[in-house]
Amino acid sequence: MVAFGVSCTLLAFWRCALAAWALSPLARPGGAIAGGGGGQVIRGGEKERWVQARSVRKLSGRVAQPRGDYHWSVLNIGPLRLGTNLLLAPIAGYCDLAFRTVCRELGGVGLACTDLLSPQGLLRGTATSLDLAKTNDFDKPVGMQLYGADPEIMAQGARWAVEHGATVVDINMGCPVDKVTKKDGGSKLLTDLSRAAAIVARVVQELERCPLDADEWRRRLGSAELINGLPPRGARIAVPLTCKVRLCWHTADYEAGRACSPHLTRALADSGVSAVTVHGRTTEMKFAGAVQLAGIARVVDAVNGRIPIIGNGDVRTPEECLTMLRETGCQGVMIGRGALSAPWLFRECWAAVQGGPVPAPPTQAQQIEIIRRFFRLMREHRDDRYAMFQISRRMSWFAKRLAVRDDGWRESAKPLQEAVRLARSPEEVEEALSRFAAGGLRTFDTARETPATGEPHEPLALPR
Ligand SMILES: Cc1cc2nc3c(=O)[nH]c(=O)nc-3n(C[C@H](O)[C@H](O)[C@H](O)COP(=O)(O)O)c2cc1C
Repeated sequence: MVAFGVSCTLLAFWRCALAAWALSPLARPGGAIAGGGGGQVIRGGEKERWVQARSVRKLSGRVAQPRGDYHWSVLNIGPLRLGTNLLLAPIAGYCDLAFRTVCRELGGVGLACTDLLSPQGLLRGTATSLDLAKTNDFDKPVGMQLYGADPEIMAQGARWAVEHGATVVDINMGCPVDKVTKKDGGSKLLTDLSRAAAIVARVVQELERCPLDADEWRRRLGSAELINGLPPRGARIAVPLTCKVRLCWHTADYEAGRACSPHLTRALADSGVSAVTVHGRTTEMKFAGAVQLAGIARVVDAVNGRIPIIGNGDVRTPEECLTMLRETGCQGVMIGRGALSAPWLFRECWAAVQGGPVPAPPTQAQQIEIIRRFFRLMREHRDDRYAMFQISRRMSWFAKRLAVRDDGWRESAKPLQEAVRLARSPEEVEEALSRFAAGGLRTFDTARETPATGEPHEPLALPR
């Protein structure tokens, strides 16, 4: 009871702190609009908005490229309408319940997904799979992602996901890792379209066999809603299925215009898939090389509006989010690694997508509170050992943003990273965070001086 009381108090404190931040001048639009014209025109009711171009737009001191008109529409996934068209990507070993919670609390997340789950592990109840599938009432709407190649096992895994809180079930058709592809799962399915279609057909059939009533939907909607409202008493609605794909396996196929993703996605739509996320790389590219927005655009063209396409790859700023939407015509954007350094990115992107000014990023002190919150949530949802391991490897991601001081000058947070790595207890991690917040555990990085001129900082590289 005492522990519960303490965690409620902490939760209330955190929510108040967030609300205070959202209302504070720091969170107010940091970047004035330079260049006139444009503005937001709403056509077709609330469903469709056109955000006209501004010649140059300053986003929190960062200058966006001039852009043409683009439009965004509310993102519907089967019977669901998401609160925003921004999704947190699954990143195995990173996007756990604690991280999803922090991203959601900071705002702008329309849907978050578990990391890839083994249906066999879920059905057998192995501790690792159950930990990965952990969710709660706040973590909604949530997608549960399954990988595998056996239609029957995938179908039973999908049923398990529905019975354990999934708002959406997702099938991984993009993982390039040997452990997954050697068993014909992940992106290996891009080379065997009939197997991919068979899995989808069986999973859709199973989802239709375990539809949810109004009470269940109410529990798992979060910021989403059902397009036609909650089902009346006695009626039920099935959980929708989505897939996450890459452009194709071989880069040479993509370059020769023979990528499978356009016709695969059409076939998935025919089989009852409600939306497809396209990571704009081939399997051979793994996570290197430039994301091919043209490849995503080809999928968008191929499905011709029958189902929404969600674009994914290398979105780290609101500008890159707008570019993804504008250049591919996709209806939603999924963000992965960009959020590992900046879990507040969804909030910034959502402001940009709606044509409004982008809020300033959190100050260093606020970032420390976000990291602290993440650390405490990991301890709460898992245990101290897990939290200590994770926080140590996650500091290199957070340090990317912590390295930029509030006045825009760069410094290095390496001493903080080192202190967290060497910490022997949660108390020592907390102490290191407090020392950084108080001005310690940093070195001024003279090699990378970037005075606060309002110009963009050098682009942040993604740690590998
Ligand atoms: C370490 C790592 C683990 C990943 N795990 C998954 C996963 O479990 N499921 C999945 O669909 N994609 C996974 N991805 C791919 C991401 O979801 C995403 O498609 C990719 O990182 C590109 O998007 P980004 O540039 O926004 O990160 C992973 C990527 C990385 C780097």
